[in-house]
Amino acid sequence: MKVTSAEFTKSAFNQSHWTTDGLPEIAFLGRSNVGKSSLLNSLLQRKGLARTSNTPGRTQSINYFLVNEQFYFVDLPGYGYAKVSKTMRADWGKMAEEYLAERRELVLSIHLVDARHAPTTLDRQLHEWLVFHQKPHAVVATKADKLSNNKLEKSLAEIKAALPESPIIAYSSTTGKGRDAVWSAILDATGKKVRFSG
Ligand code: GTP
Ligand code: MG
Repeated sequence: MKVTSAEFTKSAFNQSHWTTDGLPEIAFLGRSNVGKSSLLNSLLQRKGLARTSNTPGRTQSINYFLVNEQFYFVDLPGYGYAKVSKTMRADWGKMAEEYLAERRELVLSIHLVDARHAPTTLDRQLHEWLVFHQKPHAVVATKADKLSNNKLEKSLAEIKAALPESPIIAYSSTTGKGRDAVWSAILDATGKKVRFSG
């Protein structure tokens, strides 16, 4: 996929901040620190466009990025970070569920899990929610570069068993592994013809 333009558009803290131009949206979801912002930067080949950090819970608003003036990437706050306050956790649930449940423009939810670990209870709950509400979704297993091929295969099988209703793509934001497959899923969802720039 040739990315000709990618820009941060806005941060949304509630529905009144959502974009209004009707372009399709791809949401990136997953627990804190799983690599959502890194995946977004790696897909767009723009280092530092979405802020990444070693401090979990960095992204706390819904962040919109306009891509090729055709669709939005939507970076949602991570869930499951134990150290944030109860109020903040409740806000996450409210903000994300409202977005997922009500956003007409949402054409694909990309659910990130860490390739090295079995999905958590919250991961399973999100998966079940997406399946129950018939939201198009795909699982991306991040940080695949941290595992040997053997271990990765084993881990992907475990993830598949825990999140059975999703296609699963192994990804590395460091090496770019899985990039074409994720773009293919995105372009399928936005109804665009697949074209890779290599
Ligand atoms: P929050 O916004 O806090 O929810 O985190 P996030 O899901 O956006 O994670 P982020 O992209 O900030 O990445 C968290 C940490 O994991 C950073 O230190 C990244 O450099 C690292 N990381 C992310 N993806 C990969 C990957 O594919 N491989 C490796 N080796 N490290 C990664
Ligand atoms: Mg982030």
